[in-house]
Amino acid sequence: MTSLQSSFTVLATTPTPRNSSLSKPSLLPTTNARRSHGFRFSCSSNGGGGVDRRNMLLGLGGLYGASNLISGRKANADPILPPDLSQCDPTGATTTSGGQTVSLDVDCCPPYTDIQSDYKLPSFTTPRVRPAANRGTLKPEYIAKYQLAIQRMRDLDVTDPDDPRGFTQQANIHCAYCNGPYDQPDHPGLDLQVHNSWLFFPFHRWYLYFFERILGSLIDDPTFAIPYWNWDNPRGMFMPEMFTFPGTPAYDANRDPSHIPTGTNPVVTLNVGSTVTDPVQIISNNLTQMYNEMIGTPASATDFMGQPYRDGDAPHGFSGGGTSEQGSHTAIHVWVGDPNNEYNEDMGNFYSAGRDPLFYCHHANVDRMWTLWKDIPADYSKEITDPDFLKSAFMFYDENKNLVRVTVADALDYKRMGYEYETSNTPWMNYRPQQRLVPANLESLSKTAQTVAKLFPLTLNNTVKVIVPKPATGKADETLVIENIITDNTKLVKFGVFINDEDDKPEEVDRAEYAGSFTQLPHRVKAKQSTGNLRLNLKELYENINIADDKSVVVTIVPIINGSAVTIGSVKIVPRVA
Ligand code: C2O
Repeated sequence: MTSLQSSFTVLATTPTPRNSSLSKPSLLPTTNARRSHGFRFSCSSNGGGGVDRRNMLLGLGGLYGASNLISGRKANADPILPPDLSQCDPTGATTTSGGQTVSLDVDCCPPYTDIQSDYKLPSFTTPRVRPAANRGTLKPEYIAKYQLAIQRMRDLDVTDPDDPRGFTQQANIHCAYCNGPYDQPDHPGLDLQVHNSWLFFPFHRWYLYFFERILGSLIDDPTFAIPYWNWDNPRGMFMPEMFTFPGTPAYDANRDPSHIPTGTNPVVTLNVGSTVTDPVQIISNNLTQMYNEMIGTPASATDFMGQPYRDGDAPHGFSGGGTSEQGSHTAIHVWVGDPNNEYNEDMGNFYSAGRDPLFYCHHANVDRMWTLWKDIPADYSKEITDPDFLKSAFMFYDENKNLVRVTVADALDYKRMGYEYETSNTPWMNYRPQQRLVPANLESLSKTAQTVAKLFPLTLNNTVKVIVPKPATGKADETLVIENIITDNTKLVKFGVFINDEDDKPEEVDRAEYAGSFTQLPHRVKAKQSTGNLRLNLKELYENINIADDKSVVVTIVPIINGSAVTIGSVKIVPRVA
């Protein structure tokens, strides 16, 4: 793989026009059902210990870009514009590692052409049906076809490295949109970033769409569909076998060796940083995580999809990503990437993630989660109608090497894009936690807790228990707000939050008392610190813990990773913030 250079450099170099030369592109196991409940915002938790290596874990590239403060906003009508390929900076790729921004010795700019057009979706008659990768009965002919298609894509790397359909060129697309080579048009020095915002789902849907169409065209089968890694189902919670044979096109050597199936299948964790080892507990935590990020946590479309991100905005920090992106999505990247590599390549860093064929299989499931979420009834609208969202656009090369401009609006209806997903079970949909029959004894709990005024602000060196007044008694529709969380941007930080918890088992996030967690991945930033709030919906949780007619609760905050790198301003409960 490309060698990496770890000289420390300043972020955001001045964009250099490219004089690149692509001549005229020919015009691009069933679990025991334990139940769990719901939180709001951010990923989820459990785990603890072993901080050292995790500090290095996933310099998930430009992902967690700049700060979460939105700067330089103009009025409305400012969709994110597609990048100008002539301005792509071949030396602009950076990542974060060990608390530093480092320059990557990799040119991930696409081949250049000035011929481009708006993409028109063809009309599809036969849908491309994406199969589950872990279902035991994936047809050998299908696997052979997949391997052949990937092989043809890899062959292009050798026969014509400038062919935008080649495997490395495809992988580079992700790097270019995530790790800094593109600036926003008209905003020199301001990164274009497709993560941590409402662009996350539409961008990746288009990315997979063209990847799939290119594979299909390389094997002359327009109905060819990529597989999806059904990690949301206990039967799929391990690395899909078809990707694991050394020497085959779908194999990638840069994966965590301890997660490669060898007789036993190590179980995936969907909780970043979890150190749980009991497979039954891992699966239960995973299903809880899925329930939370898909159903329990989001109280608005942007909670799930990600926050608005418009032309001129600095990329958001931790608070910009939706529940799914920050939760299961990131966890799989971390789980697959090799922690022995300098920057957790391949999957553990966005600049290299696309080099692992598993990336596209993983993201097909992420995309499937978007389709499933849309159909789950909720008390909020699942549509984002903001024109800045709908008109945001990206550039891709299609299967004929034409450079095309695509919009978010055209990615909202996946069926129009000619594909669908084979159905598989979604046990997490019913994985709300078991309700406590007897409410916790608030009086005795309170004896171990302190008042807000006494405790805060504080640095989260140890577990804290605090008595927080409620605006209403009992099971009201309320939100817990952890305010003024200040984090060191270069550190991986994680803490978990529990309400009226008498058991103190932070590893088990499938309990009624678990309210959610805060996770910050180290990110590539100009500012040293980020400030933000964590909001957790308590409505379902109050039902789950069967709260008594109390006027306060006891909130437990458990540092899980690098508590000393986070300070918390205060904690309060307010009527639900939609
Ligand atoms: Cu663009 Cu999974 O990341």
